[in-house]
Amino acid sequence: MTEVITTIQEMQHLTSRFRLEGKSIGFVPTMGALHEGHLTMIRQSIEYNDITVISVFVNPLQFGPNEDFDAYPRQIETDVEAARMIGVDYVFYPTVEEMYPHTLDITLKVGRLASVLEGAKRPGHFDGVVTVVNKLFNIVQPHVAYFGKKDAQQLAIVQKMVETFNHPVVIQGVDIVRESDGLARSSRNVYLTEEERQQAPHLYQSLQLAKAMYDHGERQSAAIIEKVTAYLKAHTCGKIEEVAVYSYPELVQQNTISGQIFISLAVKFSKARLIDNIIIGDEVK
Ligand code: PAF
Repeated sequence: MTEVITTIQEMQHLTSRFRLEGKSIGFVPTMGALHEGHLTMIRQSIEYNDITVISVFVNPLQFGPNEDFDAYPRQIETDVEAARMIGVDYVFYPTVEEMYPHTLDITLKVGRLASVLEGAKRPGHFDGVVTVVNKLFNIVQPHVAYFGKKDAQQLAIVQKMVETFNHPVVIQGVDIVRESDGLARSSRNVYLTEEERQQAPHLYQSLQLAKAMYDHGERQSAAIIEKVTAYLKAHTCGKIEEVAVYSYPELVQQNTISGQIFISLAVKFSKARLIDNIIIGDEVK
């Protein structure tokens, strides 16, 4: 039975009780418009935890003034049905007023990690993300929380927030889920025109090209960036906003590749801005 919970008090009361009963709580925070990427995280949570909670909350704090907060796809009935089918225990679905009843006097601010990549393009975005995730963790009190590797920078920042503020939660990164043609699943894919949808899998192809170069021993970021950019220019009409090589999870730009890195792409189509990435190399211990 999936229950929809709309108040913070009820959600906190339930999860406090489960904690006292010694039950493990898995949590998948979402903004709704659930797709296979979310469902993969939810399935993991259900497999490894006694109780699974998902949140559906389009968080106004993480949208800039010219971004798609109003247009962001909202489909709560479909989402609850999907949650029910898969066996989620609770859908936490608060209103904006419930989450932010007053003007916020205190928010979290992300430093250097938000000054690059998506953070540089979307000022304040990651401050909004960590502020809401911080609240959600206090409300849901999960033992494990699942975040997609598609938003690799978000995953690194949330992990850092958990370390910094000593949240008693394990952050589990979940691999990118792709369509059969390689396009990374995203709620924003619905904004693509038919022609753009045909071109979008080339983001993944370009990352495969980068990986092949790396596998053949290329360690100069500039060479990889040049090839990937040329490939994207030749195969899509989107505006290439980012092709970059950063260490992961430290997010320091790399001229010469060593250790674990991620290659990050952002391509702006007419209405959708797609991001994709690949994490390669050995993690530095
Ligand atoms: O990745 C998302 O959908 C959002 O950034 C999150 C983590 C649910 C916070 O609003």
